[in-house]
Amino acid sequence: MRTEAKAIVEEKPLLNISGVSVHYDGAIEALESVDFAVSERALVALLGANGAGKTTLLKAIAGMLQFERGEVTSGDITIDGFSCARAHPAAITRRGIALVQDGRQCFRSMTVAENLRAAALLKPARANEMLDLVFDYFPMLKEMSARAAGYLSGGQAQMLVIAMALMGQPRLLLLDEPSLGLSPVMVQSVFDAIERVHRDLGTSVVIAEQTVPRLLRIATDAYVLSRGRVAIHAPPSEVTEDQLQRVYLS
Ligand SMILES: Nc1ncnc2c1ncn2[C@@H]1O[C@H](COP(=O)(O)OP(=O)(O)O)[C@@H](O)[C@H]1O
Ligand SMILES: [Mg+2]
Repeated sequence: MRTEAKAIVEEKPLLNISGVSVHYDGAIEALESVDFAVSERALVALLGANGAGKTTLLKAIAGMLQFERGEVTSGDITIDGFSCARAHPAAITRRGIALVQDGRQCFRSMTVAENLRAAALLKPARANEMLDLVFDYFPMLKEMSARAAGYLSGGQAQMLVIAMALMGQPRLLLLDEPSLGLSPVMVQSVFDAIERVHRDLGTSVVIAEQTVPRLLRIATDAYVLSRGRVAIHAPPSEVTEDQLQRVYLS
């Protein structure tokens, strides 16, 4: 009896999404009845072709849909058991969720260090400590700390926006296609850093990507979306390139 109860507690996810549908403009259905969960310390691969619904799912979690006339029309999203499907993004951030959107948005005319300090607004007391920590994870950012962010390469900018998210000490880091447009060497550096953050800080991570073979090697759980639905939910080792091709081409 006791063992059973313990198992249930341990399996309780940090984030739970059940039966979530999302519509844009009250009409376009971008997600349909999606179930998705992230446990503590998980690294979840969220795969799918262009238009499958990956960004929509990440925005639904972070409460960002309202800025695009998007809405969770059914189902629920809970963080630590609290319903967040209609919560304000700031309330979701306070619960420890950080979304790194595609597009690598930062203050282009501010320096790398200024961007990082601005990102610590939520936890200013630990800003110096966190700055040292992110410079340790991203030595390249330390070298470039006085440079205007607008002059960074794509890979450096990607590292900056991930580091900015870390300044808020999130429990769950959501990354939207971090490899997009980067050279293979840069993708490797970015993934090295993400892997280290996941391993050393114990941060739960969700990475949305179309195809990054390494992601399936490091992930602890995998979901594949197709046209707004979960087509595959399986251990990453069981998801093959062939399977992905079939889903992407369907
Ligand atoms: N702001 C928006 N308004 C209307 N439709 C949108 C909007 N954003 C995305 N969509 C639609 O929702 C679907 C899922 O898109 P998206 O979540 O961006 O997929 P992915 O990130 O997997 O490429 C697509 O059909 C897309 O055209
Ligand atoms: Mg997307």
